[in-house]
This record gives sequence, structure tokens and C-alpha cells, in this order.
Amino acid sequence: MTSEVKDTSKKYQITLKTIFGLEQVLTEELAELGYSDVTTLNRAVQLRGTMRDVYFLNLHIRCAISILVEIKTFTIRNEQDLFKKCMQIDWTNYFTLDKTFAVKGAVFSDLFKHSQFPFLLVKDAIVDTFRNVSGNRPDVNIKTPQVVFDVYIIQDKVTISLNTSGLPLFQRGYREAIGEAPMNEVVAAGLIRMTNWDRKSPFIDPFCGSGTLLIEAAFLATGIPSNIERQHYAFKNFIGYDEQLWEEIYSSAKKFVKELPCRIVGSDLSDEMVTKTRRNLRGLVFGRFIETSVQSFEHVKRIEEKGVVVTNPPYGLRMGDNIEEMYEQLGSWMKNEMKGYDCWVISGSEEGFKTLGLRPDRKIKVFNGDIECSFRKYSIYDGTKKLHKLVDFEKEGADINDSEEIEEKN
Ligand SMILES: C[S@@+](CC[C@H](N)C(=O)[O-])C[C@H]1O[C@@H](n2cnc3c(N)ncnc32)[C@H](O)[C@@H]1O
Repeated sequence: MTSEVKDTSKKYQITLKTIFGLEQVLTEELAELGYSDVTTLNRAVQLRGTMRDVYFLNLHIRCAISILVEIKTFTIRNEQDLFKKCMQIDWTNYFTLDKTFAVKGAVFSDLFKHSQFPFLLVKDAIVDTFRNVSGNRPDVNIKTPQVVFDVYIIQDKVTISLNTSGLPLFQRGYREAIGEAPMNEVVAAGLIRMTNWDRKSPFIDPFCGSGTLLIEAAFLATGIPSNIERQHYAFKNFIGYDEQLWEEIYSSAKKFVKELPCRIVGSDLSDEMVTKTRRNLRGLVFGRFIETSVQSFEHVKRIEEKGVVVTNPPYGLRMGDNIEEMYEQLGSWMKNEMKGYDCWVISGSEEGFKTLGLRPDRKIKVFNGDIECSFRKYSIYDGTKKLHKLVDFEKEGADINDSEEIEEKN
């Protein structure tokens, strides 16, 4: 790349893209990593930083989907203006002919009739620039590009960025075996952060599927980057990639632990799913410390007096029937077996939540893939403490705020 990007002290506008609902936890995660001067946006957080920050964040961040580095902003009057302005960018400064590329992004503009057309125009400008300079053109690869450019258009304002992650950062590189309804790793990391889990008390997932929540919990508790197993980063394919700097950042990341700072326990009714979890754990340094078993959730017992349950039961859209009966039993299990625990349930089934029969302390709207879900917290107080009256309040039409405290009788 130009001397510009080789200069590791130069500061760029960096955008960390995320999933709806995870903006706040991403901001908190950045603060924990030492980045407090940030702007929280819709599905993104922005900050200023160097290429060192870009490499560091690609490795360490758990709640972002991709990391963009702004290279150009301009305004346009019409579709062809986008092409013309993009022809003024010397794309040969950013990558070489032997690399495949893709143009992706988001467009919110009345100037374009078809949402994909702006990407096509930018792709054409890239190809024409290379042809004009060398007589040859680089190949496009939509699925697994080596280099990715991001185009973000709001009405007449265009921002062109390098997507330094390339493939989305939820492709952590640790998951070989996936379940029928796997959870996106970035969503899993975000949900765990939302729980404010202290990373010392037990973490239980009684519907663990292929183990995403367990694995992300272990990464968080140990301080090992969730992306430690990932090989692909698009920044390695841009001109100016500083391999030495990357090696330095990678080698200073935590990679080993002798034990876990807490118990992390997962189970699933399906033998096949638990085998998948174990297969995924096999390649991870903390894998042998995570306790897994095949059993139905109602047989899972509390360990220690306090802890968290974070779980993603089936919600009928993609798997299984008898959802209401299962949620009713889940509510009873939480109430009777998980005293002292904070139980967090993510589900896309409103009916399921209703039949749980417990009053949530918090409800957070999140997306798991394309499915709108709710992530709800149920604080299950133990015998000696005051307890939120565990009523079927949703059936009774009670308001979430008119919480009533009663002494537990049993
Ligand atoms: C939505 S999936 C969980 C996906 C998981 N979070 C992942 O990332 O792979 C729900 C899981 O609940 C399991 N399940 C269904 N009924 C169960 C029960 N009664 N007890 C425990 N697990 C059950 C299914 O086998 C499935 O793996």
C-alpha cells in the first residue's frame, strides 16, 4: 500500500461493525481493552486509531463482526457520480492483482434503484483502475475474498473503507462441528457480557448444542482472545501489511491456561450435540476443563450457591415441538433447582416465555441470525432472601414494573 498505510503511527477512523443490540456491550468491551474515547452508533462503534489498533482489535475483540478503516469519504449527485469518484481512488495502492476481492457494505439512499448496484459500480471502478495501470484485472470472489472493500452510503454521503477483517469475525476458527441451530459466536459473546457474569462463579448451559456459549464463556474467563485460532484476516492481504507488527501482537496475546478460574458446565439432551461440543472443545487449550454431559435440563443440579445459567433452548422455529410444555418445565427447574442463580434465557418464542411463568428482571431485544429474539434475566433468589413473586404474570397481564416482593415460604 501507499506509504500512508505503511506508516503505523498514522491515525485512521476505525469502525467496528456489530449486530443490532450489541452496541453497548461492544462499547464496554472496548473500554476494558483501553479504548474509552469511542462513539457508539447504530450497529457500530467508532474510534480513531493506528494500524496497530486495527491488528490488535481484530484479534481481541469478541463483540464485533468486522473492523473497517476509512480510506475516502465524498458526496455524490447520482449513480454515475459514484463510479466517477471511485475512479479517482488509486486502488492499486491497496492490493495487488494476485489477490481476489469483493465489495460489500450497506446503502440507504434514494439515488440508487437497486441496492446491489452501488457495489457493482465500485467493483467496476476497481477493475478499470487496474486495467488502466497494468492491462490486467484482479478477480472477484464473493464467498472467500482475500481483500474486502466496504461501501457505506447514506443518501448522498459515501464512505469507502478497507474491511480489515474480511470474513466476519464470528468465524473464529474453532468450530468444526455445528448443530442444527448454532448460535453466532459474536452474539454468544455479546449475551455473556450482558449478563455481567463475574467470570469466577459457575457458568451453566443446559441446552448447550454445539457449545458456543460454553466456549465463549471460557474465552472470556481465561482472557484468551476468541479469535486465537483464526488464521484469516483481510489486513494480511492489503499492501503495507506489517507482518512483524502482527507477530508481535499475536505473540503477546494470552494462549495458555493451567485451569479455568471457574466451573463451566454444559449439557444437552442430544448425544450427537454433546459429541459436537466435545469435538469443538478438543482443539482448545481449556477444552478439557469444560464439563459436558448428555442429559435433559431438568436433571441438571446447581453447583455452588451463586452462578449464572445462560442458555438458548429450542424455540420451535427451527427445531422440536412441545415448546410450551418444555418452557413450563424450564420455569419450574429454574425456580426449584437454580436458587441463588441469575438465569438468562434467549429465545424467539414469546409463547415459550409466557409459559415459563416467571417474572423477568430484564428483557433485551437481540437477533440470533435473522430471528428476532428476547434475552431475559430471571434472578432466582434463594430460600432466606426476599423473592420476586413467581407468578404467571404475563397470563395475568401484570406489568413488568409492578414487581411484588414476598418472603419465600418454603
Ligand atoms: C437452539 S439449540 C442450542 C444451540 C446452541 N446454543 C449452539 O450454539 O449450538 C437447542 C438445543 O437444545 C437441545 N434440547 C432439546 N430438548 C432438550 C432438553 N429437554 N434438555 C436439554 N437439551 C435439550 C437440542 O438438542 C439443541 O441442541
